[in-house]
Amino acid sequence: MRVKPRCTPALLLFLLAAGNTLLATAFFIPERPSTNATARRSLFFPSAFNEADQRFPISPPHQFIKAGPNDHRGPCPGLNSLANHGFISRTGVDTFLNIINASNQVYRMGIGASAAAAILGLFGGNLLDPTLPISIGEPPNNVGLTGILGGILAPPSGLTNTHNQFECDASLTRCDLYICNDSHTLQPKYLQALLDLYTADSKITNSVALVSKHHANRIADSIANNGLFFFGPVQMIVGAFTALQAPSLFANYSAEHPEGFMSVEGLMSIYGAARSPNGTLTWTRGSERIPDKYYRRPGALLDQWDLPILLPQVLEMWALYPETLSLGGNLGEPNTFFPLDLGAFTRGAYSLDDLRQPGGVNLVCFVYQLVQIVFPDLLGNVNDLLAGVLTEVGQLTDGVLGTFVCPRTMGSVDMAMLDKYPGWVKSKTKKGIL
Ligand code: HEM
Ligand SMILES: *[C@@H]1O[C@H](CO)[C@@H](O)[C@H](O)[C@H]1NC(C)=O
Ligand SMILES: *[C@@H]1O[C@H](CO)[C@@H](O)[C@H](O)[C@H]1NC(C)=O
Ligand SMILES: *[C@@H]1O[C@H](CO)[C@@H](O)[C@H](O)[C@H]1NC(C)=O
Ligand SMILES: *[C@@H]1O[C@H](CO)[C@@H](O)[C@H](O)[C@H]1NC(C)=O
Ligand SMILES: *[C@@H]1O[C@H](CO)[C@@H](O)[C@H](O)[C@H]1NC(C)=O
Repeated sequence: MRVKPRCTPALLLFLLAAGNTLLATAFFIPERPSTNATARRSLFFPSAFNEADQRFPISPPHQFIKAGPNDHRGPCPGLNSLANHGFISRTGVDTFLNIINASNQVYRMGIGASAAAAILGLFGGNLLDPTLPISIGEPPNNVGLTGILGGILAPPSGLTNTHNQFECDASLTRCDLYICNDSHTLQPKYLQALLDLYTADSKITNSVALVSKHHANRIADSIANNGLFFFGPVQMIVGAFTALQAPSLFANYSAEHPEGFMSVEGLMSIYGAARSPNGTLTWTRGSERIPDKYYRRPGALLDQWDLPILLPQVLEMWALYPETLSLGGNLGEPNTFFPLDLGAFTRGAYSLDDLRQPGGVNLVCFVYQLVQIVFPDLLGNVNDLLAGVLTEVGQLTDGVLGTFVCPRTMGSVDMAMLDKYPGWVKSKTKKGIL
C-alpha cells in the first residue's frame, strides 16, 4: 500500500522559507574564514549588543525544571535544554514545526539549519501523524500504530535511536553506539577532555578552534577504539555541524564578549553537568539548564546561526584540523581506518579538495545534492511517506539553489561503496523495518 506524503500547507511554506533563507544567504558567504574574533563579529553581527533582546527569556513559565523519568530526553543537549525550560513540550515529544521554531526563537539557530536538523530528526519521528511529532529521546509511548501501514513503517524510534541516520560516532560528549551500547548519555570524561583544552590554553578566545580540536581528538579516539567507527558523508557532515553548535549556540554573547564566549561554567550548565565535592564531573539525565545570567546571539536574520556563518566555521575546522575531514570508517577492528574515495562515491562530481574550497559553494551544493539523492534512497521502498516528504523538500531546495549557485551537478552516488564498512552495514539492518 502506498501512502501519500502528508505535507501540510504550513510545512510546505516553512520549507520554502528555508529555501529562501538559503537563497538570501548564499550571497553573503565570505570568501575566507577569519580567525580574528573582532573581525568575525563585525562580519557577522552588524547589530549592536542588545541587553533586553539577548538575555535568555527563562523566567516562568520557562524556568528550569529537571526532567522526570517519564519525560523523553536524548543525545542533543540543545533540545534537552529547550524541553527542560518548556520551550518545547517538557515531555520531550513535540511537533516538527515547534522544534524548529524553538531552536530558532530561543537559540537563534537559523531557519535553514533548524529545518535541516529537524528533517534529519524525522528519521526518529512519527510519520503517521500529520504534525510529525518527534521524540527528542526514547521512543514515545502510546503512539497507537494500529496497522495503518500493516507493518511497513517502523514505530517512531525517537532521536536516541537514529544511529547513522542522525546520531553518529565521535560526538563531542557521547559514546559511540557500538562501544557503549549507549550514544545518548553524556560521558563526563569526554566533557572533561573538552574542558581540559581550556586549561591547556587559558588565553583561548576562539571557541570554534577549541571545539574543532576536541572534535579531532574524538575522531582519533573512535578510530583507535571503535572497530565499527563509521564516518560516511552524512555522518561526517552531521558530526561537524553538531560539534559547531556548541561554540555557536551555547556561547555567552554578553556585552564583554559580543562575538560570543563559551565559558566552562556555561558549557557545564547547558550540558547538565556538575562538579562533585572531590572535583570529578558528574551528569544526571534531564539536567540541561540555561544559566540564569546568559546572553544569546542577536536575532537579526544574518546574526542567526545559519549557512553564512556555519560554512566558514566548517572550513575553518577543516583547515585547522584536516583530520576532521576523515571520510570513511574502520573495517571491523580498531585502527583499520579506510578512507572513502569521494570522487568515486560521487562518480566524479566532487573530491575532498572541492569541499574544502574557500567560499564553500561546493560544500553547500554537495550537501544539498546529497540530501536529494541519499535520503529517498536510504529509506528506499520501505518508507514511501518520508521519501515523499523529502523529495518535495529536495525539489524546493533544488529549484532555489540549483539554478544559480551549484557549479556542478551530481547525478547519483555509489552507495554500495559503503558496504565495506561494517559499522554502516550493522546500522542499516534496522532502517525503517519492523
Ligand atoms: C531541529 C532541531 C535539532 C535537532 C533535531 C537536533 C538533533 C540532534 C541530534 C540527533 C544530535 C546527536 C548527534 C550526535 O550523535 O553527535 C545532536 C547533537 C547536538 N546538538 Fe542538536 N538538534 C537540534 C537543535 C539543536 C540546538 C538548537 C542546539 C543548541 C542550542 C543543538 C546542539 C547540539 C550539540 C552541541 C550537539 C552535540 C552533542 C554532543 O555530542 O556533545 N542542537 N542534535
Ligand atoms: C582583528 O580585526 C580587527 C578589525 O578588523 C583589527 O582591528 C585587528 O587589528 C585584528 N587583529 C588581529 C590580531 O589581526
Ligand atoms: C515560536 O516560539 C516563540 C518563543 O518560544 C513563541 O512565542 C511563538 O509563539 C512560537 N511560534 C509558533 C508559531 O509556534
Ligand atoms: C543495549 O541497550 C538496549 C537499550 O537500552 C538494551 O535493550 C539492550 O539489552 C542492550 N544490549 C546490550 C548487549 O547491552
Ligand atoms: C555571561 O556573561 C555575563 C556578562 O559578562 C556574566 O555576568 C555571566 O556570569 C556570564 N554567564 C556565564 C554562565 O558565564
Ligand atoms: C568522586 O565522587 C564521585 C561522586 O561522589 C564518585 O562517584 C567518585 O568515585 C569519586 N572519585 C574519586 C576519585 O574519589
